[in-house]
Amino acid sequence: MATIILSAASPQHPSLQALAACLVTELARTGETDIQTFDLATIKLAYCQGEFDCWVKTPGYCRSLDTEQVIVQAIHDADNLILLDAITFGGHGYTLKRAMDRMICLLAPFFEKRAALTHHRGRYDHVANLFALGWLPAPDSSQARTWREFAEANAINMLAPRFGAAVVDDTDQEAWADAIREMLASEDVPGATLDDRAPLRAALIEAASPERPEGQAVPTAAVDARTAPRVAILNGSAKVKGTSASENLARALAVRLEQGGALVEQHVATEFIHDRGKALVAARAIAEADLFVLVTPLYVDALPALATHALELVAQVRNPDFPPAQFAVIINCGFPEPEQIRTALRIARHFAVRAGYAWAGGLPLGGGGSISPERPLDEQHGPAEHVKRALDLAAPALARREPIPAEAIEEMIARPMPDGLYRLMGDLGWRYQAYRNHVSQRDLKAKPLD
Ligand SMILES: Cc1cc2nc3c(=O)[nH]c(=O)nc-3n(C[C@H](O)[C@H](O)[C@H](O)COP(=O)(O)O)c2cc1C
Repeated sequence: MATIILSAASPQHPSLQALAACLVTELARTGETDIQTFDLATIKLAYCQGEFDCWVKTPGYCRSLDTEQVIVQAIHDADNLILLDAITFGGHGYTLKRAMDRMICLLAPFFEKRAALTHHRGRYDHVANLFALGWLPAPDSSQARTWREFAEANAINMLAPRFGAAVVDDTDQEAWADAIREMLASEDVPGATLDDRAPLRAALIEAASPERPEGQAVPTAAVDARTAPRVAILNGSAKVKGTSASENLARALAVRLEQGGALVEQHVATEFIHDRGKALVAARAIAEADLFVLVTPLYVDALPALATHALELVAQVRNPDFPPAQFAVIINCGFPEPEQIRTALRIARHFAVRAGYAWAGGLPLGGGGSISPERPLDEQHGPAEHVKRALDLAAPALARREPIPAEAIEEMIARPMPDGLYRLMGDLGWRYQAYRNHVSQRDLKAKPLD
């Protein structure tokens, strides 16, 4: 057996380091002798740029040449993959998510239906089991639920034969070893109990719905309700300017918010890397707005690494003295079903709690590939119509400091075309992109790491 640990532990995080040591001890107890740990806090990794070159240009390889190449080869060769992280808003933090986002080269682009929803086909015959070991400073059952659901969704995505998840905290370190043993012994098969879409739809609506009754504005004791609300929109897509659905959605939202009397400033997630000083200025600008809207794609069932990083900084700079403010999200995903976004919405809600925002709700958009980045949303028709209607309903409410109305969420999750048709068109799209890149159709399924 070979086990790979992707670890976020570092000397700055003694609890996580202690947990990493405990994990290695417990692995040794099971007889594991072949353990390789990647300490991601000290490894410089590029972030996924979302351009899918690893599927349609250099199938099976990410174009960024760094240690991630070694990591994916090790995962490909391993029997077990363990993700060890400090739970961040219920999911992974930037350090680990950066590595995760770049694992999609282990999958093939083509769509298939598994565990009630669309997923990508596997690229390789052998896949490692997936285990997610999360640490929290204190018990938090809501974040623990998100962590476990995220682990299973990710295991379904990756086609892991079995998966396990464990959440431990500093209030009971003596329980750590047992929790790890139980996680490693798990025989759970990802998606085994997911054969019906209805519970996923219910979980989606629960996560997307605002926490306040509709029509009720955010408490404005410290805010003059007559002044125009200041809105910060953050585009969480890692794609270059002018090529993302998120940028297009953000623009369309900004226009509608301005029509509702709001003052809007737009940010992009790349502002938060490279220069720490500039990143903190941007984070503070967002933290001081009356409304913060994150418009982002879904990456690996959660927020992309770059968006996670931005949220980490905003949460860091917001303090209890800040005036009441709202947080809302628009998340689009590549599979046709908006249910794919349920875990990311829970992550967004945890962020709102952590950073002291009122959760104003989320708009989950399935089939984001139907939104062309090349033309303004308002010039698009067909599958864009329900998206425009959703924004038309959401923006005026948000501009009045009210939460997103239920009708806007209903519009956004409306299905503009049958899922099977979307999958067929998506698969043809991958083939066309390969053709344009002079990649043979056969090579789309290449297995370079075998
Ligand atoms: C690294 C990566 C991971 C992704 N993971 C998922 C996923 O788990 N589920 C899904 O439906 N789409 C997933 N997608 C697809 C994107 O959400 C989709 O392409 C989206 O429309 C991109 O939005 P953008 O143009 O705003 O960046 C992923 C894309 C990338 C690049």
